[in-house]
Amino acid sequence: MCGIVGFVGNQQAAPILLNGLSKLEYRGYDSAGLAVRSGSELAEVVKATGKLKNLREKTNDGYALSGNCGIGHTRWATHGVPSKTNAHPHVSGNCTGSASGAVESDVVGVHNGIIENYQELKDKLIRHGYQFYSDTDTEVVIKLVDYYYKKYKVGPIDALAKTMVRVRGSYALEVMFKDYPDEIYVARKDSPMIIGIADGETYVASDVPAILSYTKHVYYIGNNEMAKLSAGNVVFYNLDGDEVEKDLVEITFSAEAAEKGGYEHFMLKEIHEQPKVIQDTYNAYVKDGDIDFSNVGLTAEDIQAFSNVYIVACGSAWHVGMAAQYVFEDLANLPVRVELASEFRYRKMPLASDGLVVVISQSGETADTLAALREAKSKGLKTLAIVNVVGSSIAREADYVCYTLAGPEISVATTKAYSTQLIVAYLLAMKMGVVRGTLSQDVCSGYLKEIETIPQKIESLLADKERLQWFASKYSNAHDVFFVGRGIDYAIGLEGSLKMKEISYIHSEAYAAGELKHGTISLIEDGTLVIGIATQKELYEKTMSNMVECKARGAYLMGLTTSGHYAMEDTADFVIYIPTIDDHFAGSLSVVPLQLLGYYISVSRGLDVDKPRNLAKSVTVE
Ligand code: G6P
Repeated sequence: MCGIVGFVGNQQAAPILLNGLSKLEYRGYDSAGLAVRSGSELAEVVKATGKLKNLREKTNDGYALSGNCGIGHTRWATHGVPSKTNAHPHVSGNCTGSASGAVESDVVGVHNGIIENYQELKDKLIRHGYQFYSDTDTEVVIKLVDYYYKKYKVGPIDALAKTMVRVRGSYALEVMFKDYPDEIYVARKDSPMIIGIADGETYVASDVPAILSYTKHVYYIGNNEMAKLSAGNVVFYNLDGDEVEKDLVEITFSAEAAEKGGYEHFMLKEIHEQPKVIQDTYNAYVKDGDIDFSNVGLTAEDIQAFSNVYIVACGSAWHVGMAAQYVFEDLANLPVRVELASEFRYRKMPLASDGLVVVISQSGETADTLAALREAKSKGLKTLAIVNVVGSSIAREADYVCYTLAGPEISVATTKAYSTQLIVAYLLAMKMGVVRGTLSQDVCSGYLKEIETIPQKIESLLADKERLQWFASKYSNAHDVFFVGRGIDYAIGLEGSLKMKEISYIHSEAYAAGELKHGTISLIEDGTLVIGIATQKELYEKTMSNMVECKARGAYLMGLTTSGHYAMEDTADFVIYIPTIDDHFAGSLSVVPLQLLGYYISVSRGLDVDKPRNLAKSVTVE
């Protein structure tokens, strides 16, 4: 949550900062602000509540601010309501600026993350005469930097290091010091931050898309590290203040990959990218007809040593785990537990020391998932991450890293990352099955052929999307929607339900169909929309019976099943068919109409599809 940007170079900073922030709005969008300075002039601070366009209007697209060094922030409120006062940047002085916006403060900064001991630090600073104008933890950390800077009369790096030792929590922190013109100082722990370099220009951002139109060359700053940025130059430091060498990394995806490319919304574009990114991800792990995780360092001996699998994730990534568990159990005959990272990290669960913990995360920065990974490692278990963002914290800390090749995902509601995570999970389950002798090479090859058909089958589903568009416009005023299914269909229902509620704000629930009769069925009344998912042959009849029970209570039934089950039309009012595919992989197809349904309902209701209220894509707080 929250996005930060910074720039120092030869150009005017503010338009570049605003452009960067526009690529980070998915990280938070309740307020935004900039601090820009020219040489030894005071920094000018401008903030606006609401979406970034308000800040653009206020600063004439940045051209109202003069200076070639600056920092910026888009906020997702944690401490303190969304307001101009609580918006970043924050300053070490008593307010964020005069009418002109110029601030007298010695330190001005922005922050993504959360300072857990901010209250204790705030009390200490108040005792030392500091006053606070906002409710934020960020103002506390900026004033703490100022406190150490002055108390010990040290340079910016030492002041930051002293601050880092004192604060608990996570931060990607960017600060400018009045006495150090044309320089930006940064510090990082557990919140993402990258630094880009081009001819005489230096960029900072929470994520690569923010700087991709300026440079493809980035440094990944490590945990508990700091850096001094000047025009075209970066020096990295560890906590002791010693310089650290870093490799410059070239980003392989283009700036266009993070643009809408003619689609009305990122979500629709990303739904349409699924065939390609599934193919790319598959190609990364299947070589000459064989599943190959050697580039991940996962050997047959490693796999043989695992007695069970714990899948840990949040949100849609957890739903991937819910679907994958059936495949792991069936193909690899391994006991699997799927845990929400926010629960896993705090429960006192006895873990088998020879278990494998699989964490799944698009961003690789989700605070709970990262903490769960660390918890597992501290207990001595091996960890494997299925992750999309290269160089993210989870990718850096896991023992084995399986990247998904979804490319940048901008829409808050995930689609293509989810689909690529599923593919990696299938391949992992199959590889484990082959190594453990529970899946023959022949059957495995047959399954691979089935997976290879997924991209083309998704294309055919996308070609028929108008039916869903029509259905969505008819049902866009629904109050409650229930998704029911069994096994993998239940797991897909969980994802369909999340897509529906997060972007269309319609209350929805997903139930294991057999559970309906234990309570939920009392909520079904005339016209309630029930979406029955029945792609699993063995479970088809059972789910149909549950759908009939709903119909008998007045439900309007939408069915989602595999081509050939045309009898479903005798019961359901509206049926969507997915192409036939082996049951294990049906989720990769059945999720697509549900993504489209959520999308079109949100569009019909006139909502902001890509940036739903109160949500952020990368959840870096607990
Ligand atoms: C947020 C996003 C979801 C995502 C979840 C976990 O809630 O909106 O789309 O599934 O975080 O994020 P991760 O980056 O760990 O996959």
